[in-house]
Amino acid sequence: MKAIILEQYGHADELKVAEINPPELRETDVLVEVKATSVNPVDWQIREGYLAEMIPYEFPLVLGSDVAGVVKEVGPKASKFSVGDEVFGSPDMMRNGTYAELVAVDEIHLAKKPTNLTFEEAASVPLAGLTAWTSLVNVAHIQSGERVLVQGGAGGVGSLAIQIAKAKGCWVAATCSEMNVEFLHQLGVDQVINYEEDNFEDVLEPVDVVLETIGGEVQERSFKVLKKGGRMPSTTTAPDEDLAKEYGVKGFQLSADHSGETLDEIRKLIEADSIRPVVGQVLDLEDIKEGHAQSQTGHAQGKIVLTV
Ligand SMILES: NC(=O)c1ccc[n+]([C@@H]2O[C@H](COP(=O)([O-])OP(=O)(O)OC[C@H]3O[C@@H](n4cnc5c(N)ncnc54)[C@H](OP(=O)(O)O)[C@@H]3O)[C@@H](O)[C@H]2O)c1
Repeated sequence: MKAIILEQYGHADELKVAEINPPELRETDVLVEVKATSVNPVDWQIREGYLAEMIPYEFPLVLGSDVAGVVKEVGPKASKFSVGDEVFGSPDMMRNGTYAELVAVDEIHLAKKPTNLTFEEAASVPLAGLTAWTSLVNVAHIQSGERVLVQGGAGGVGSLAIQIAKAKGCWVAATCSEMNVEFLHQLGVDQVINYEEDNFEDVLEPVDVVLETIGGEVQERSFKVLKKGGRMPSTTTAPDEDLAKEYGVKGFQLSADHSGETLDEIRKLIEADSIRPVVGQVLDLEDIKEGHAQSQTGHAQGKIVLTV
């Protein structure tokens, strides 16, 4: 099968189109014919070797954390899906990923693809959507009527987090650069903060939850806008414990839950038209180097999707 492989850590030039053997199925796996995948920052973070000490990857490695496709085969102990089902999901990151024509995925990581989305739209959802959901629903336990600030509202995680928080009845503020102000208004954000013009802490009344996706000084300043007892899930570094104590708030470092059951909750909101995925760009899988370069600018709007 055709795949994009990485034979050593390094620059995007290390990503090569190759013919490799199809993956072998484990007992509870489903073999998915990949129709579309997407780029997540973690893909180039792995490519550059940032996770090398945490996860002992073997080469050649196939990257890719999102899939939308069609079930081709089911393992002997897989029972949730049948051949021909249209599915989407974010597989286990310890195994070869989705930059390929076929991927073997444990069925616990898959859900039925939303009926109202194309494969490209569906492939934009899993990891970013699961990260947003884990942060806001499973960790911060957002409640209807609460005030939520989404840092990085125009990104893959942020654009879905805004819509999940709105669907749960929250009041939502979000930060972005000048070029994304109109885009965030269209997503239904109640207070759009252009970080090129204003410091969010100067223009925002206190909030119950900050979803932090930027890190560094943005994360440090985010403590200032939380009410006492507020929560700050972070998709980047762990929030500073001393600052959390000083402000009387709780910080959490996120690890996205790659659960098919959670993804099915997101599917329901998509099919109810409460969430609309944001595909910023569609490229061919062979254009993966360009996809990584775009993601590495740190200014992607929505998701960069790859058709296979
Ligand atoms: N822990 C986990 O399990 C997990 C899972 C997924 C993602 N993540 C991490 O979460 C982060 C975000 O991921 P993503 O997929 O959403 O990334 P992304 O799609 O690349 O989005 C980046 C966004 O950040 C915005 N941005 C840049 N500087 C900003 C600033 N100073 N203030 C506000 N917004 C700013 C950009 O908007 P503008 O162009 O308008 O600046 C852009 O839309 C990454 O670091 C990723 O590695 C972690």
